[in-house]
Amino acid sequence: MTAFVVRPATPADAPGIAAIYDAAVRESITTFEEEPPGPARWLDRLASPARPGDHLLVAVDGGRVLGYAGSSDFRPRRGYRFTREVCVYVAADARRRGMASAMYAALVAACRADGIRVLVGVVAQPNEDSNALHERLGFEAIGQLSDVGFTFDRWLGLRFYQRVLAAPAAAVEHAAAPVLAAGQALVDLAAQVPADSWDAPGLGSWDVRALVGHAGRGLTTLAEYAAQPTSEPAEIADASAYYAAARRLADTAGLNETVRARGVEAGVALGADPPTTLRTWLAAARAALAEVEGDPVVPTALGRMRLSTYLPTRVVELTVHTLDLAVALGVPPAVPAESLAATAAVAAQVGVALGRGPELLLGLTGRRPLPGGFSVVP
Ligand SMILES: CC(C)(COP(=O)(O)OP(=O)(O)OC[C@H]1O[C@@H](n2cnc3c(N)ncnc32)[C@H](O)[C@@H]1OP(=O)(O)O)[C@@H](O)C(=O)NCCC(=O)NCCS
Repeated sequence: MTAFVVRPATPADAPGIAAIYDAAVRESITTFEEEPPGPARWLDRLASPARPGDHLLVAVDGGRVLGYAGSSDFRPRRGYRFTREVCVYVAADARRRGMASAMYAALVAACRADGIRVLVGVVAQPNEDSNALHERLGFEAIGQLSDVGFTFDRWLGLRFYQRVLAAPAAAVEHAAAPVLAAGQALVDLAAQVPADSWDAPGLGSWDVRALVGHAGRGLTTLAEYAAQPTSEPAEIADASAYYAAARRLADTAGLNETVRARGVEAGVALGADPPTTLRTWLAAARAALAEVEGDPVVPTALGRMRLSTYLPTRVVELTVHTLDLAVALGVPPAVPAESLAATAAVAAQVGVALGRGPELLLGLTGRRPLPGGFSVVP
């Protein structure tokens, strides 16, 4: 079994889509059609002008279309233009591989980007597979019409599922911008690393590869955690509490050694073409943030936090390590002002929380040099 790809459908996919849909017309109660429409239906659909929120996606494996998902009019009148009806079909021999979930995730992202607010799934009953899929993907069962369709000599009902595509909270958008900007700065700087310098000294015991790998973890952990919202309460209130927890663990549980080893592992994970790998990590972080609704509580290595409070810790990691990389390479640091400012704000909060606020401010305003060895990180 190979990995499948989800992408927008093209006219060349029409026969593959038709094979799946026509089988459903012939063999299942889901379509309420009696004549398989063949590829013409899909060619027409792809040829007609798409309005915002209209999409047709396919899941392809080894050149074969194994599933498709589409979004189209919920009802034709203008007032319903921010709502789309979605549907998904997967070939019988390709089910339970996550294809429907992956296509719906791409559909949700595309509809959200088009300003769509509500997705509606209309499922002929009984259909335990589709009910389970919709419930798993955050659709709410709204209600059911009974006996509205007649097919295969039976009266059947329809269950309506709804998912409201809420936007990220303003606090998340505000905190995410400097993180993504710092991620881009890291990607740009990594692209300048000479091919023979990846094993040159980076930071401490890390070579450049491990330093960049560790910095890139600022993106991979973000993508991983943002995709796991939980209903449990937050345990860590803000970025300075996160660093206080890190400091406690560094003292007691050898956190520094774990972080050092994970940096080396992440460096290995960068593979043969680190800049390209980093670009995919940045894209994954961006995609995960585009999916966020509100300001969810997410798991982190040190405990659960609101995403808006975790993001500032990512800007610190990405910004400071991009500066470290510039130092290691002997090039001028190029980090956007918004990322530097967001990082400096967290550093100041941590310093104040450590009781070092006066020294910090006297140092930053040139009254008195900062004490030797002064640092706000563990
Ligand atoms: C419904 C359908 C699209 C699911 O496609 P799929 O690619 O198998 O779904 P996924 O692999 O993404 O499954 C995601 C989750 O949905 C639920 N699910 C899907 N099929 C299920 C089944 N047969 N039994 C129980 N749960 C199921 C599970 O929670 C599953 O997660 P898991 O595999 O980790 O347990 C597919 O069965 C299908 O094409 N059915 C016929 C057409 C149809 O009914 N389409 C819906 C019309 S609106």
